[in-house]
Amino acid sequence: MSSAATSNETSSADTPAQQRPPIVGPPSPQPPYPILVSGSVVKGFGRGGKQLGIPTANLAEDAVERTLRDLPVGVYLGWAQISGQRAVWPMVMSLGWNPYFQNERRSGEVHVIHTFDEDFYGRTLNVAILAYIRPERNYESLEALVEDIRCDIEVAHRSLAREAYQKVKQCDLFKTDDDATSSGSTTTG
Ligand SMILES: Cc1cc2nc3c(=O)[nH]c(=O)nc-3n(C[C@H](O)[C@H](O)[C@H](O)COP(=O)(O)O)c2cc1C
Repeated sequence: MSSAATSNETSSADTPAQQRPPIVGPPSPQPPYPILVSGSVVKGFGRGGKQLGIPTANLAEDAVERTLRDLPVGVYLGWAQISGQRAVWPMVMSLGWNPYFQNERRSGEVHVIHTFDEDFYGRTLNVAILAYIRPERNYESLEALVEDIRCDIEVAHRSLAREAYQKVKQCDLFKTDDDATSSGSTTTG
């Protein structure tokens, strides 16, 4: 594919996946993290699941342009929840132009690290971004891109296992109506 052409705008193939740091971020998230964003899930180019085997939920442009406007492009880790569901899953997110595919618009693509039976287009995704993993890169092959994303997923698992990162799962962004009902049982009339 010709789109694998070299680019000077990103650090290209500088660190092979095997040599990347196994964990990123300080022991607890530091400002500007956590960055909390909710956005509806829109259709991307459909390559994530089919071509890469790594499905991504593309956040609607208003979420990317409003809340994530000042965030540098790159790959991030954190937690994600499909609005209305209790479960909070680890996630890795690519924010940028996907140099390998030479996109013309900046996109925010979240890979929720869980196997879902269905896609969730049109649903709202709540996301807590907690640390930066690496810059976006260009790649010589699709396999190299997939290898790096697989490494991002491992880095996310290890980084999020720390207590201070786990705690963020309890933040208000991820509270559901069920939580309100159960904690409401202590109120007196
Ligand atoms: C964690 C993660 C890291 C990614 N890193 C890169 C990258 O470094 N360079 C790149 O060109 N694309 C990167 N991508 C983006 C993929 O190219 C993208 O998910 C794929 O093109 C699917 O896009 P689509 O849903 O719009 O079809 C990354 C995606 C994820 C989820």
